[in-house]
Parts: sequence; C-alpha cells; structure tokens
Amino acid sequence: MTVQDKQKALKVLNNKLAMDTSLPLKATATNDVPGEGSPEAEILFVGEAPGAREDALGRPFVGAAGKFLDELIASIGLKRADIFIANLIKHRPPGNRDPLPEEIEAYAPYLEKQMSIIEPKIIVTLGRHSMQYFLGEGLSISKIHGQPKRRNGRIVMPMYHPAAALYSGNLRPVLKADFAKLPKVIKLLEKGEDLQLVETPAVSEKQKAAESQQSLL
Ligand code: URA
Repeated sequence: MTVQDKQKALKVLNNKLAMDTSLPLKATATNDVPGEGSPEAEILFVGEAPGAREDALGRPFVGAAGKFLDELIASIGLKRADIFIANLIKHRPPGNRDPLPEEIEAYAPYLEKQMSIIEPKIIVTLGRHSMQYFLGEGLSISKIHGQPKRRNGRIVMPMYHPAAALYSGNLRPVLKADFAKLPKVIKLLEKGEDLQLVETPAVSEKQKAAESQQSLL
C-alpha cells in the first residue's frame, strides 16, 4: 500500500469507529480516540485506554503520562509524527477504571485493522494489559520488559506504562533504558538479521477472533 492508501484506509477505519454504536464504552465517551501518527510508522506504541484528557481532546497520550512518553520518544531522536500511538480501547472507561476483558475483545478488531494497514516493524506495548493482549497471560512485566519477543509473526517489545513511572520514580530510568534499545533492534530488523527471538506460545483465542473480525471492518 502507498502512504496515501494507508492514510485513506485509516480514515475509513476512524469513520467506522465513529459510527459503531455497538462498542461498549461509546455512550459514555466524549470523543473517539482511535490513535494517531505516521501511517508508515515502523514503531507502533499500544497503550491501554484513553484517560480524561484524551477523551476531551480525542487524542492518545496527551495527559501527564503522554508528556513523559513524548520525552521518551524524543530521547531516541524521534517525534510523534514518526511513530504511531494507539490504545487497546478507543473510548475512555468511566472513571479511568481498568478495561474489562470483554471490552478489550470488543475493540480488538479496530487495533488489528490498524496494524494490518500500518504494518509496523515492531509493536511496543505500554503496560500490563497491552502486553497480555499481544503476548498472553501469565507473563511478568518486571521480568520481560525491554526484551523483544516474536509472537505470531509479530515483533513485540513490552515496556512499562509511562504512567507507572509517574507513581514510582525508579521506573523512569528503566523506561529510558528500554527505549534506548529500540533504534538498535529496529536496525537489526531492517537488515533482516535474526534477533534470536523465542517464539512465545500460541496465539490466544481472543486474538485469533479479533484478527478474523478485522477483515470485516
Ligand atoms: N494511558 C493510556 O494507556 N493511553 C492513553 O492514551 C493515555 C493514558
């Protein structure tokens, strides 16, 4: 797909999101927060769900956590326009509560479609929910953060959520160090070099279902 085709496809998808009244958090949300960035991004960041400021502005990561994310992106010489930022959930959960499994499932076809359009080289998951969506249950973020994994043909690098670093300051340097690894990992992927990644266990049923549903969007 050309960049124009990708741009157009993302716009069509955002219009579908705007009209999709079946989505569980649509009625309580002020704005859709589909995500934003380059349609040709090599890096796709996937957070959890929009918060109050994101809901008010219709843009991802524009609150306090977003400010730190911007700082992290800048620390590897990139800008928001170079990457793509999305969330598992495209509407704010009331009171910023954790998303329910059925909500993650309901929004997953939108995320899957975004990935099939953008075709990023690497997906950086921000926080536990996003890590679990891509890599499955039972993994500990404290053990695998900053380590690229291959799953279902995708390269996924789990990282802490930037909001976690706002509460516990000792995570700031951890996130910075994980970000610092990204350019090197991408260079290796571009060269087609084997990262010697271990394939993690089979895709979850949830993800399989979402992948098949994205083709309907
Ligand atoms: N936290 C998230 O996970 N996503 C946002 O867009 C904002 C805060």
